[in-house]
Amino acid sequence: MRTIIIIPTYNESKNITHLINALQKQFKKIRHDLHVLIVDDNSPDGTAGEVKKLQSRFNNIHLLMGQKAGLGVAYTRGMAYAMEHLGAEVVFEMDADFSHKPEDVPRLMAEIDKGADFVIGSRYVPGGSIPKEWGTRRKLISRFGNIVARYLAGIYHVRDCTAGFRAIRTSVLRNIEFADLGVKGYAFQIALLHQVVVLKAKIVEIPVDFIDRTEGESKLGMKDVIEFVLNAWWIRFHSLKTFIKFLVVGASGVVVNLGFFTIFLTADINKYVASPLAIEISIISNFLLNNFWTFSRRKTKDRTRIRGVKFNIVSFLALGVSYGTFVALSIYFPNVAPQLHQLIGIVPATLINYFINANWTFKEVGND
Ligand code: GDD
Ligand code: MN
Repeated sequence: MRTIIIIPTYNESKNITHLINALQKQFKKIRHDLHVLIVDDNSPDGTAGEVKKLQSRFNNIHLLMGQKAGLGVAYTRGMAYAMEHLGAEVVFEMDADFSHKPEDVPRLMAEIDKGADFVIGSRYVPGGSIPKEWGTRRKLISRFGNIVARYLAGIYHVRDCTAGFRAIRTSVLRNIEFADLGVKGYAFQIALLHQVVVLKAKIVEIPVDFIDRTEGESKLGMKDVIEFVLNAWWIRFHSLKTFIKFLVVGASGVVVNLGFFTIFLTADINKYVASPLAIEISIISNFLLNNFWTFSRRKTKDRTRIRGVKFNIVSFLALGVSYGTFVALSIYFPNVAPQLHQLIGIVPATLINYFINANWTFKEVGND
């Protein structure tokens, strides 16, 4: 398997030669075809020069140069190059400063061999660790980053969301639109992880010790922290987007329902006939809007007609839930205004309506 270790560098001349030598030793322990791709942003300290010297000794070292635009931009360029020009089947993300131990590379690779799509060298699973010498500020940034990623962006089941030591199958990366990630700096780590979660790839975390760098300095700045938090909000908003569209459609259904009801009444249709007719028309208009807007990007297995029938069934179920809530509240709280009971009934009905339609009517093929 062609595997490319991508190492972004900015002023890492004191580390890069040692690291590449250490990696070559580890490569001997791995059966696959391993290469190194250095993505250097014209480091003023001459990092690229060091890499070029090594290129004359080893034939598995590649160098990509560019303008400094952040860690995420460097990785995006590196991954695209590894896939398009180097035929990568697996890529690694790794830091140049020995924070990630070269000896751990075979361990991450072994998980890929066992079938994982995305392996994280994790500091926050049992057995993993962060440097003892890290000050409170650095510890807080890292902890805070993971809390934001897990609880704000919603990637709950991953312990180390911001880890920069990962092995990834390119069969997963090829399904990701990197231009849409919209991040430049360290936020890339969670933006990419989120996409991988959405694609339901197999994620495995294995413990690693993160070692504090002894040469050079960290490039993580305030700008990165801000972009990171904004990006977490963006991810949360995106995953809510489908639900918000569903609510908008539901609200439009109320207007359609009342509108047609009024039209039927003015046309002298009996109100007991006009009411179910208006209800059914609003269910159909809701279905069409959800079908062609809310869930339009989903590939579902049923034909539109079948989805329409399913949607109708769910709508009647929601009606039952709404009415059931109304009746129950009316019995338990007889002194409260019935409008309030009616209003509260809408909440569980909408949630159930959304949940069943999202996971049954508009269920994506292959998502079990
Ligand atoms: N090409 C390029 N361009 N490389 C960069 C840039 C950039 O703008 N910024 C950082 N790098 C390189 C560094 O040279 C180093 O090899 C690697 O990216 C990590 O940068 P550090 O500055 O050492 O990051 P850190 O130690 O603060 O952060 C580590 O922990 C973070 C989370 O806790 C890294 O592992 C991050 O990936 C991780 O998100
Ligand atoms: Mn570092």
